[in-house]
Amino acid sequence: MCRAVYPGSFDPITNGHLDIIQRGCKLFDKITIGVLVNQQKSPLFTVEERIEIIRQVVEPLQSPKTLIEVESFSGLLVDFAQQKRADCIVRGLRAVSDYEYELQMAQMNRHMESDIETVFLMSDEAYSFVSSRLVKEIFILGRPVSQFVPALVEERMREKVSGVGCRVSGSET
Ligand code: PNS
Repeated sequence: MCRAVYPGSFDPITNGHLDIIQRGCKLFDKITIGVLVNQQKSPLFTVEERIEIIRQVVEPLQSPKTLIEVESFSGLLVDFAQQKRADCIVRGLRAVSDYEYELQMAQMNRHMESDIETVFLMSDEAYSFVSSRLVKEIFILGRPVSQFVPALVEERMREKVSGVGCRVSGSET
């Protein structure tokens, strides 16, 4: 049984994230999608909303071969991974620009927990430029994002943005 944790902010989940989850389903028996709590000061979606959205969009990917679960976590990723008895941490790589940050995190995580491997999966080139931050920015500034996120996510973004003013944080991807 090979278990993986796929951590991130997922504000919101994009087609790029889903591509990585689909690739992970070929490799792992169980994937826990870990939504980080308290990372940003002004997220678009609350952690609870993100979890609910992710659960809905990954439902079609559930199979007898791979169980996908979605949970929040706070504190260190390696502690969450240990709590989930995960063998691996999965991260997506879109471009060389992701590499340095990801390498640093992977090495620090390995330094803290040598038994947990970080596995990098290359995203489809169609998503190499897609990030949650840019998706939010272009949506808030008036362009559709249907190419980049599932329809449900765009719908939830529309509800959110039409309801209240919101700010886009510049720190996450
Ligand atoms: O998708 P993101 O927002 O780039 O994900 C970043 C994430 C959640 C993987 C990273 O911020 C993280 O692991 N945070 C938990 C705190 C932690 O473990 N920090 C030490 C990392 S070496």
